[in-house]
Amino acid sequence: MEFPKRFLFGAATSAHQVEGNNIHSDWWAWEQSTSGVHQSGKAADHWNRFREDFALAKNLGHTAHRLSIEWSRIEPRPGEFNKKALEHYREVLLELRKQNIKSFVTLHHFTNPEWLAQKGGWETGYAVERFEIYVRYVSQQLGELVDFWVTINEPMVYASQSYWRVKWPPQKRSLISMMRVIGNLAKAHRSVYRILKMVHPNIPVGFAKHLVAYIPEHAKRLDSQMFVKIKDWWFNKRFFSLTRGAYDFIGVNYYFPGINWQTWHGPKSDLGWPVYPEGLTHVLKGMKRYKKPIYITENGIADADDSRRADFIREHIRAVRDAIAQGVDVRGYLHWSLLDNFEWADGFAPRFGLIEVDYSTMERTVRPSAYVLKAFTEHV
Ligand code: BGC
Repeated sequence: MEFPKRFLFGAATSAHQVEGNNIHSDWWAWEQSTSGVHQSGKAADHWNRFREDFALAKNLGHTAHRLSIEWSRIEPRPGEFNKKALEHYREVLLELRKQNIKSFVTLHHFTNPEWLAQKGGWETGYAVERFEIYVRYVSQQLGELVDFWVTINEPMVYASQSYWRVKWPPQKRSLISMMRVIGNLAKAHRSVYRILKMVHPNIPVGFAKHLVAYIPEHAKRLDSQMFVKIKDWWFNKRFFSLTRGAYDFIGVNYYFPGINWQTWHGPKSDLGWPVYPEGLTHVLKGMKRYKKPIYITENGIADADDSRRADFIREHIRAVRDAIAQGVDVRGYLHWSLLDNFEWADGFAPRFGLIEVDYSTMERTVRPSAYVLKAFTEHV
């Protein structure tokens, strides 16, 4: 089967994970002030090497690229917009245009300006108001260079890691806070959806939703089925209800199934995540009900020796094709990630890149599996 016409292939990154020296963000502050956490430092130095990185992506056949704009660079202090940072992102987007690579631009990918965090971050309505101001500014300044807007990356992951699982700043454990954060993120998305459409009505707007493939452990048992239904509703579907009517496409980030990882005997990533490609078909079918085009905005594996990534790519793309064959409107696949990068609380050890980064020299080396993805790009 050929891919649908204009099917996009490429890779994704996020600012804090690749750029380096994001000194005004809450993550940076947390990295400096908390003992025992990894420091992002220069990350992959993508801030200075984006041209080289996009040239590599181009050589690998990529026709789309997802990146994020770092709010804390654009607005290092409330109401103070940094022209230099803005011009940098203009150059980045111009470079993608020049290479004929479509851009997916994320406006919030886990990090916040430190000044916002100090005022209570996403637990407050203040975050919604400030996000509106930042988004209006960025869309007015850069919108004409953007092909797709991704407002917020993985709202449920952000809320649970930061306000329930105590893994990420501000490391809180409060159900009330987590619920408040989810509510504010949904509100912020709805509100900036309107703003973005007002400024550039033709640019599609969506969010990137982490989806877990929930499969009942005992297919025939009612309690097992019910349990899976509740989890699927809470984690996968609820954010769509909260944002109904305010997205033009669906961004799907898929990594693993929601099963007991300890008893999983199949292949695993370096992080111990089960590899389960059929789960991608499963979650894509679950998105059919929303009747919107779908882009895979992330899918990848931590695999330092590149021994499993080639199969991972082949099998997950097959899973996408299966979903398409079953009537799901999937229009693109972006691999996570273009480059090795700062994997949040796990630091630099997990290697997700199609391109390996030697952090001592910042030298880039294309991994063999990157050519497996390239071969698919030749069939569009
Ligand atoms: C996030 C990325 C992260 C990736 C791998 C996704 O949840 O959007 O920032 O690096 O998963 O863990």
